[in-house]
Amino acid sequence: QQDRAIRPLKLAEYIGQPVVREQMELFIQAARGRSEALDHTLIFGPPGLGKTTLANIIAQEMGVSIKSTSGPVLERPGDLAALLTNLEPGDVLFVDEIHRLSPVVEEVLYPAMEDYQLDIMIGEGPAARSIKLDLPPFTLIGATTRAGMLTNPLRDRFGIIQRLEFYSVDDLATIVGRSAAILGLPVDAAGSFEIARRARGTPRIANRLLRRVRDYAEVRGQGQISREIADRALDMLDIDAHGFDHQDRRLLLTMIDKFDGGPVGIDNLSAAIGEERHTIEDVLEPYLIQQGYIMRTPRGRVVTRHAYLHFGLNVPGRLGEAL
Ligand code: ADE
Repeated sequence: QQDRAIRPLKLAEYIGQPVVREQMELFIQAARGRSEALDHTLIFGPPGLGKTTLANIIAQEMGVSIKSTSGPVLERPGDLAALLTNLEPGDVLFVDEIHRLSPVVEEVLYPAMEDYQLDIMIGEGPAARSIKLDLPPFTLIGATTRAGMLTNPLRDRFGIIQRLEFYSVDDLATIVGRSAAILGLPVDAAGSFEIARRARGTPRIANRLLRRVRDYAEVRGQGQISREIADRALDMLDIDAHGFDHQDRRLLLTMIDKFDGGPVGIDNLSAAIGEERHTIEDVLEPYLIQQGYIMRTPRGRVVTRHAYLHFGLNVPGRLGEAL
């Protein structure tokens, strides 16, 4: 509902991700110039960085409709066939969590992507037969948290592959300022910056924190979102100076306390903190790795000296001297 209001609708309103933006602008202009469907596009990156938003913007900029679904929802080939046969020429079919497609559905997707051909079996046993249909040219946009989880034949069928990166604090501050303006919230530059600084590089988190800081400002302050109000609100939300939340700290402290800083395998870590392996891999870990608090090694995860310093702990000798 409210989220809809703050989602950018055009590439020009999309903040950050300069490489992705420049490339998509060009590919879209070229496809439009040729009156063709845009090539199939894969968007990957951690949750909350704007994959769905970007898919919607691409459709908008191409001047076509978008139909959205997700990998786990497409249980049978017929589910996908129903969507594909409902597309107009040039339309976008958006498949979120595309790494979770079942193999039988994926099989149907290959000829659809490659030759705009629908090729499915109907019926069972002796009455079973295959039907072939021509599909209109369309653009498949797939989104996934990790490109490495796609099968090779599926990945190979995307002509455009875009990776979304964590946002800089400056870009997040711009996003917070933009959202606040749309929602009519009184936030100053320092307030936006404080929220941005503690949003884990992620617009979805920045926008969520903005709403919670607004709550705090309205109840404990005069409604104005200043740096000081943001700081107090975020402390109350248990988000520390680096933007790490309770789960981030638990992951790091468990690695330090129970596993001597690692290396520790993902399944051991998952059991120790009672968090799903995939949540660790897709949600928690990417930011901690990007910020240099965790490293992946062939023998498992290890924490870096930054993790010890973050908690005011002595850095073990093997990791070098604290500065
Ligand atoms: N909201 C989510 N992602 C965004 C982005 N990249 N730019 C502007 N607003 C956003």
